[in-house]
Amino acid sequence: MPLLEIDDLNVSFDTGDGEVHAVNGLSLTLDRGETLGIVGESGSGKSQTAFATLGLLAKNGRASGSIRFDGEEILNAPARTLNRIRAERIAIIFQDPMTSLNPYMRISDQMAEVLMLHKGLGKRAALAEAVRMLDAVRIPGAKDRIRLYPHEFSGGMRQRVMIAMSLLCQPDLLIADEPTTALDVTVQAQIMRLLQELQAEFGMATMLITHDLGVVAGFCERVTVMYGGKVMERAPVHPIFAQPTHPYTRGLLQAVPRVDRGQETMQAIPGNPPNMARPPSGCPFRPRCAFADEDCAVMPPLAPAGEARERACHRPVKEVAA
Ligand SMILES: Nc1ncnc2c1ncn2[C@@H]1O[C@H](COP(=O)(O)OP(=O)(O)OP(=O)(O)O)[C@@H](O)[C@H]1O
Ligand SMILES: [Mg+2]
Repeated sequence: MPLLEIDDLNVSFDTGDGEVHAVNGLSLTLDRGETLGIVGESGSGKSQTAFATLGLLAKNGRASGSIRFDGEEILNAPARTLNRIRAERIAIIFQDPMTSLNPYMRISDQMAEVLMLHKGLGKRAALAEAVRMLDAVRIPGAKDRIRLYPHEFSGGMRQRVMIAMSLLCQPDLLIADEPTTALDVTVQAQIMRLLQELQAEFGMATMLITHDLGVVAGFCERVTVMYGGKVMERAPVHPIFAQPTHPYTRGLLQAVPRVDRGQETMQAIPGNPPNMARPPSGCPFRPRCAFADEDCAVMPPLAPAGEARERACHRPVKEVAA
């Protein structure tokens, strides 16, 4: 049984501009200890997939379908169930750590509170464990610096604190939603390296959400490429880099700077992601796709395309991959 099993997930929002369909019939699975990348441009439905999993959708949002975690249905589950799952089994790291840290509480109190509440530790044991976690995320002088307030840390150090907090209860699944985009490039690389080391050390399954295929390459075993709330392609990481089979993946790859190809070959995908209040009919990528023809007015099904690969495209693989 997979650790996480999302089946036919739909997420929509009521807005003054009509209904926004953020996620459309998404299915995916994640095994214990596995690393999965979810990639796509802004607005493709990555975060809403994570939020639906954790019961964190905005008030105007609705989700249908099924999300099973360790065999238990958790989509739209009662608050009590979701609180337990969020506290003990699934942790999330957001792009901006300040959204999850309380600015008025010392790090020591925030971390200890979690352990006292959910692991039943006494204050002294909780603090010792919190320091141990800050050491694990390589915060120098953790024993003293745990007394600081969030704003007294640099952005990179704050993200380390967030990672330490997320690991306190030793989650089975870590969802990292753009964990480094708010940081500068050198710090980004350090944080990704740290996450990778912790993933190996603690062995939790990890869902890494990013718009950057380059980040996925260094971290994930498998990748799911999303666009317009739908899965365009999914595959093990190395084959997808060697040979994308979907025009959208191909476009994303051409936008990744690569040392071996030289920066000058970098090319952004022309056009913009669709307005999800009025998405195009058929394949959502159709208006920007160099391969599109009249067939694309009907959304192609996600179909097998080689070993452990699936793609949703009417054009033959050899045409796109060439
Ligand atoms: N509360 C809301 N009300 C209306 N629309 C929303 C709401 N929250 C999200 N959306 C819409 O849902 C769609 C998917 O959003 P989502 O946050 O999942 O994108 P994303 O892939 O995470 O993008 P990014 O890379 O920018 O974080 C977008 O079109 C977004 O505008
Ligand atoms: Mg997002």
